[in-house]
Amino acid sequence: MNYHSHKDSEIKASFGDALLASLAPGGGLWMPDALPFFSPHETARLGAMSFADCAAELATHFTDERFSKADLDEICDDAYNYPVPIRTLSGEALDPALAPDAEDFVLELFHGPTLAFKDFAARFMGRAASHLMGTTKQKRTILVATSGDTGGAIGDAFLDQKGIKVFILFPKGGVSKVQEQQLTTMGTARSNVKAISVDGTFDDCQQLVKQAFGNSELTEKHDLMSANSINVGRVIPQSFYYFWTSLQAKAAYPNRPLVYSIPSGNLGNLTGGLIAKKMGAPIDRFVIGNNANDPFVDYLSTGVYTPRPSVPTLSNAMDIGRPNNFPRIVALHDNNYAAIRDVCWGASFTDDETERHIRRIHTETGYVMCPHTAVGHLAMEKFAADVPEPFTRITVGTAHPAKFADSVERILHTEIPLPTPLAKAMKKKKRVHVMAPTLDALSDYLSIHA
Ligand SMILES: Cc1ncc(COP(=O)(O)O)c(C=O)c1O
Repeated sequence: MNYHSHKDSEIKASFGDALLASLAPGGGLWMPDALPFFSPHETARLGAMSFADCAAELATHFTDERFSKADLDEICDDAYNYPVPIRTLSGEALDPALAPDAEDFVLELFHGPTLAFKDFAARFMGRAASHLMGTTKQKRTILVATSGDTGGAIGDAFLDQKGIKVFILFPKGGVSKVQEQQLTTMGTARSNVKAISVDGTFDDCQQLVKQAFGNSELTEKHDLMSANSINVGRVIPQSFYYFWTSLQAKAAYPNRPLVYSIPSGNLGNLTGGLIAKKMGAPIDRFVIGNNANDPFVDYLSTGVYTPRPSVPTLSNAMDIGRPNNFPRIVALHDNNYAAIRDVCWGASFTDDETERHIRRIHTETGYVMCPHTAVGHLAMEKFAADVPEPFTRITVGTAHPAKFADSVERILHTEIPLPTPLAKAMKKKKRVHVMAPTLDALSDYLSIHA
């Protein structure tokens, strides 16, 4: 598969080069030239595989000759060694024998090592990048801006990988206590992963990373690489779980339409879903849940896209006023607003509505949602209110509620037990550099540590 810049289709790269370059010359986002399409016969075969096997097979269509099928099998087996459950709020599995009338499911993408959906992309990308480092003997410095979860997932995926240093930029006071602990406790003082607390917002962090990539002196000096969802290596693996889980859902409830709801910020997760649909995944519609940072939901209702400064909310990982992947979604639909509206429906919610929803769902079912998942579930409920016939609803659970224990415990007045990896991280010593949100400050820090 070759890739081209969304700004100029004449600018091309292989998968490996697009992954290592992060952005195309001129700042474009890499886009796959042509997506594979799987017939119902082929999808049936892929759906019968394990998730890791299906992911490896899909990956053969997106990579280049530097990745053999055996390499991809090894990468996916190693990356995807945790479950991908779809369950009802009362805990039944996706199984018509156990839950014949169930419609409302959560796809829990938070059973990986950092308990957030970012693990799926980060673990594939980390292994793919270090495979390339091994074959090319190159070095890379990864800069990653995080609103909480990406940094943890990238840090974990790249920790101790040879030839790669990772600098995680997060907004000071803008991530949850548990997330900050996870971000700042990876490895030892000499480890290849460093956390930087930026005195600003997530948009400032994202802007700094963009500025660094726009500065040819810095990019060349440090061989910079981005691990944010501007990197196509992050977005492609996010299509794998939509592809595979939609086949499981369709096999369980073949006669019902299938709709996913995605709590969204930078729209990388949605881009993965849209790619899966274009590959033949049996998904009828995507519902998009935004918090008060809702330029995409506004775009869906007005056709006008107006990026804006972000505002802080309860679902802080989605506090994004200028979603990075918006241009990819437009390009995937040939700049056709009507085509985007045909597949996407959106709604946004206040923090009060989100809090009330977390409380109501807990009271009614016992299920504990993180604030992001709750925004997605609220959006799905709103969408379902206007759909008379039964359909399979899958809300994408993007993070374990314990990652947001400070807010969830306040909302529910109940203790959220920390899963083992988090409990271990909470005991570790923090290592963090506090920095002004300027390129000079970042450049100084990189010249010492990169
Ligand atoms: C828990 C959680 N939910 C939702 C999102 C939004 O995903 P995306 O930025 O791909 O739209 C994020 C992104 O950081 C996240 O960490």
